[in-house]
Amino acid sequence: MRTDNKPMENGAAAMKSIPLSVPDLRGNEKEYLARCVTDNWISSAGPFVVEFETKIAGLTGRRHAVSTVNGTAALQLALSAAGVGPGDLVIVPDWTFAATANAVVHAGATPYFVDITAESYTLDPELVARALKTSPQGRRVTAVVPVHAAGHPPDMDGIMEVCGKPEIAVIDDAAGAIGAVYKGRPAGGLGDASIFSFNGNKLVTAGGGGMIMTDREDWARRAKHLSTQARIGDEYEHDEIGANLRMTNLNAAVGMAQLERLDEMLAARKRIAQRYDDAIVDRNNLSSMPHAPWATGNSWMYTLQTASEEDARKLLAHFSERKIGARSFWRSLSAQAPYSAMPTLLTGVAAAVSGRTVSLPCSSNLTEEEQNRVIDALDSWSGAGTPGR
Ligand SMILES: Cc1ncc(COP(=O)(O)O)c(C=O)c1O
Repeated sequence: MRTDNKPMENGAAAMKSIPLSVPDLRGNEKEYLARCVTDNWISSAGPFVVEFETKIAGLTGRRHAVSTVNGTAALQLALSAAGVGPGDLVIVPDWTFAATANAVVHAGATPYFVDITAESYTLDPELVARALKTSPQGRRVTAVVPVHAAGHPPDMDGIMEVCGKPEIAVIDDAAGAIGAVYKGRPAGGLGDASIFSFNGNKLVTAGGGGMIMTDREDWARRAKHLSTQARIGDEYEHDEIGANLRMTNLNAAVGMAQLERLDEMLAARKRIAQRYDDAIVDRNNLSSMPHAPWATGNSWMYTLQTASEEDARKLLAHFSERKIGARSFWRSLSAQAPYSAMPTLLTGVAAAVSGRTVSLPCSSNLTEEEQNRVIDALDSWSGAGTPGR
């Protein structure tokens, strides 16, 4: 329920579409892009690329940061750099964006889907420990990829412990989690390597882009090498099969401008999330995503949970009628055709959550009036269903 006294929005103004999560380009983006053109640095090298890598390494407390064309490539390269390849299994949570599993496949390995906990919606360390004792399809697990769910860190210490560092590489997919904090440490600085995405829907965007953060110099060097066609020196000589997965200076320019406003954009997303949390706190048919005690998420993607799939569908239709860009969030990957033959260790949590999570508009440039419209829409929806989580 809204707590202010402003009138409910209606009429033509209210029918302007509200997008789910869009870039907030109110800083130096234009100026830095113009500088790229003036200085003739628009391709996959340039001063902004170096500055962006240095800045992200500092922000996450890492010795190295390697920029990439997107977050999926960052994950694929991090896995390859860590030695993951054909024949290997890589544990990933069953509830994540498809890119997590796809990157494992692009690295030549096979995803092994392990369930999440009901308390955090992130990878369950106890199940990971059990999965590590199995070898489905006669294969070996060589890496684990915990995922930060909608910007909320997983229990990294629990996972690192069962992986018995350094035998099993832990590469956390922090794609959308820049600015999140785990036990006082920044997301991006937690696993043996971590990755960010700077896609257009993220809290910090570069238009597109990704980053690998690690203290392992050998991994950073190899990731960079593989991202530049594994070319040696300035001649057309190569020592393995690489690819062109680099970030351009144009993208890094946007990313640098965005980082200057990180604190402001983070605070805005958190304020919006708090308003939505407050709006549903007394509801018995809507609940916010779990906030596990070990971390503070960055509220990148505000997501709530309905009591049933039918409720989620009706809530989405309710928002759609009001031109509000709400969207259904992740679904169990192992239940979907491309992944159905891959090994699993499941308890049913991901399956139960699937289809019941709905993301609400949460861009850092969302106006107060737009937030009010979202909250009014929540207030005017009574739900079809069964209460409870
Ligand atoms: C959890 C997760 N992993 C990986 C990615 C992939 O990032 P990109 O879209 O930059 O390739 C995303 C993007 O949304 C994501 O949410």
